[in-house]
Amino acid sequence: MPLVTTKEMFEKSMKEHFAIGAFNINNMEFIQAITDAAEEAKSPVILQVSSSAIKYARMKYLVKMVEAAVETTTIPIALHLDHGPDFETCKMCIDNGFTSVMIDGSKYNFEENVALTKQVVDYAHERGVVVEAEIGKLAGVEDDVNVADADARYTDPEQAYEFVEKTGCDSLAIAIGTSHGAYKFKGDAKLRFDILQKIKEKLPNTPIVLHGASSVVPELVEICNHNGGDIPGAKGCPDEMLKQAGESGVSKINVDTDLRLAMTAQIRKVFYEEPSIFDPRKYLGAARDEIKKTVLHKMNEVFGSAHKA
Ligand code: G3H
Ligand code: 13P
Ligand code: ZN
Repeated sequence: MPLVTTKEMFEKSMKEHFAIGAFNINNMEFIQAITDAAEEAKSPVILQVSSSAIKYARMKYLVKMVEAAVETTTIPIALHLDHGPDFETCKMCIDNGFTSVMIDGSKYNFEENVALTKQVVDYAHERGVVVEAEIGKLAGVEDDVNVADADARYTDPEQAYEFVEKTGCDSLAIAIGTSHGAYKFKGDAKLRFDILQKIKEKLPNTPIVLHGASSVVPELVEICNHNGGDIPGAKGCPDEMLKQAGESGVSKINVDTDLRLAMTAQIRKVFYEEPSIFDPRKYLGAARDEIKKTVLHKMNEVFGSAHKA
């Protein structure tokens, strides 16, 4: 089956109350591991590429490898730009065959974010490509914010409605307490499901996206640290919360950190336990297996996307 747009995927996920995993890719091992997992779970999947991944792996290589995955699997696959920083990057991805792009104008004020998003929407829609946009700001634990500041960063449901009306974006990334990376919470993990519910009431037909949604799998952090790593106090979104998010109207769940941890855990383990190994296929193969296992767990046990292909 050719690459699909997320529009088709989200129609099904909204009707049947499950979430689709969007996994960041940087090289062949990630692409194979994620699509092998999706094939095994019979799950739709979104492969997403950041602008720094494009710089690292190069556009043509990424697109051709994704094409190879599409040709050798039977599940619906979408190719998505993650956190497009400007119009030019979105245009480049649309022109290279991506089926969906994110324009991340969350660093701008409301009017600027609307104008930039609208510019991307106009270009994308003319070419059959769909657009994810963001309103609200994802704070990290490293950002020293007081309670009032923290509240101001969550997505405001009224503003979310106005933003979608004005831009015509196809899906919306919101801020309800998640953040990127391996350090999401200082104390207990907490997501503002009350805000999610209000957004869904205002925008029942708009697919909602949760960024910064790695669970920072404790076992993977432990393998890293046990084999010479130094990632103390890492903490992510527990699986139960992500499950609840999927059942409460979140249609797309973004995962990058967990896959980085999976790859690093196995490479560290092989290096530490078998120092004589220097065939990259040995440690990259182990890394690919661990990424696949991590993705399978999410599709089968957390997102509810297994058997929805
Ligand atoms: O949200 C950002 C993603 O984790 C991509 O990160 O820009 O380092 O590829 P990156
Ligand atoms: P994590 O850092 O939690 O994996 O989030 C990834 C993400 O949101 C990519 O856009
Ligand atoms: Zn993100």
